[in-house]
Amino acid sequence: MITFENDARYDITSLAREAEDAARTVREGTGPGSAMRGWRDLPVTYKKSDEYVRIGAIAEEIRAKADAFVVIGIGGSYLGARAAITALTHSYHNERAGADVPAIYFAGKNISATELAELMDVLEGKSVYINVISKSGTTLEPALAFRVLHAWLSKRYSAEEMKERVIATTDARSGALHDYARDKGYRLFVVPDDVGGRYSVLTPVGLLPIAVAGGDIDAMMDGAATQRSMCEGDRFVQNECMQYAAARTLLYRTGIKVDVLATYEPKLAYVAEWWKQLFGESEGKEHKGLLPTSMMFTTDLHSLGQYMQQGARIMCETVLSVAAQDNAVVVPQSDNALDGLDAQYGMAMGAINKIAENATIAAHREGGVPVMRVKMKKIDAYNLGAAFYFFEYACAISGYMLGVNPFDQPGVDVYKKKMYELLAESAA
Ligand code: PA5
Repeated sequence: MITFENDARYDITSLAREAEDAARTVREGTGPGSAMRGWRDLPVTYKKSDEYVRIGAIAEEIRAKADAFVVIGIGGSYLGARAAITALTHSYHNERAGADVPAIYFAGKNISATELAELMDVLEGKSVYINVISKSGTTLEPALAFRVLHAWLSKRYSAEEMKERVIATTDARSGALHDYARDKGYRLFVVPDDVGGRYSVLTPVGLLPIAVAGGDIDAMMDGAATQRSMCEGDRFVQNECMQYAAARTLLYRTGIKVDVLATYEPKLAYVAEWWKQLFGESEGKEHKGLLPTSMMFTTDLHSLGQYMQQGARIMCETVLSVAAQDNAVVVPQSDNALDGLDAQYGMAMGAINKIAENATIAAHREGGVPVMRVKMKKIDAYNLGAAFYFFEYACAISGYMLGVNPFDQPGVDVYKKKMYELLAESAA
């Protein structure tokens, strides 16, 4: 279960009624964008579906047959899977991939020719499967990468083999990718109509790649379902998801402009990227909203840490805190007393990391930064599922408190349209 700890200097109870109203709007579907609230029920309903069972079966098949699995997608069709895979697999997963688990690669998340060419270098000689993920089927970056990788794959495998190796996750009924994949006989998974990209990690968009990487998707769905019970509660005092939304709203109204998600574990780096997209696309509209950004501590304490401590007072901080101590490494004995670490001999590095977290929170608060903490027990599939659900729900509530539609992304669509206009001009 995910819990929330407010910065006690900011009294959020004044927003309790408003948060309860916004949460009711989410539950009852009376706000803008309410047709896109399918994510709320996924942990309960989707797990019972036939498609969910297919995910497990196809993931097993890919794990047995592939050396490399390439996930093609961008934004909401990429970040959830990457967040979970980075969090749940070994930090050096691809170096350790072998007979029973493929290396996982991500493509279509930019327009870098170099990166794509170098990916193909790495794939050479390997048994490759690809999962192209695009709800619209027309997003430039994944469409480009898919075209290139599909051509590359087609030179190595017959049309029959391609039917096994190419899996498309897209709209249920129509769209460029849907029609192409259907025509070729490729296997299809569905992005539900009522779930937007950034809320789609608990659909095949996230679940198939996560399962291929060895993530326990049953546990992930269970964690989300447990969190759902808390998030759906109607009372502010018992609903920490509402409290987080209220805290962000209160800080925004005091003039804070930026919310920094801080993590102390590199495995959570892409959860931070996912969180940035979730809040950025949901709230950043009508010239409103906290700018969501992230810092990896303690790495960034030696760069942006200076700004956090003493720069312009425009930011608050959400620390994504992991309670379980990582005892993988302890400080060894050494004949080098000069490093000043003799007193820490025998201490777990995880304990030192936790002290760094507590010290930094104290320092930042002293420096005038409001610091909130979202706490997870440990980094595993269950708690990660709970965290995804907690943030999605908090974001929906927070968006309604801000007075925006938390489920559309008209700004992203502006860029996509302009890009296609300029491309058409350059082709003319
Ligand atoms: O959250 C969103 O809706 C966006 O970030 C999309 O996921 C992203 O633009 C990719 O879109 P698509 O899945 O249609 O390729």
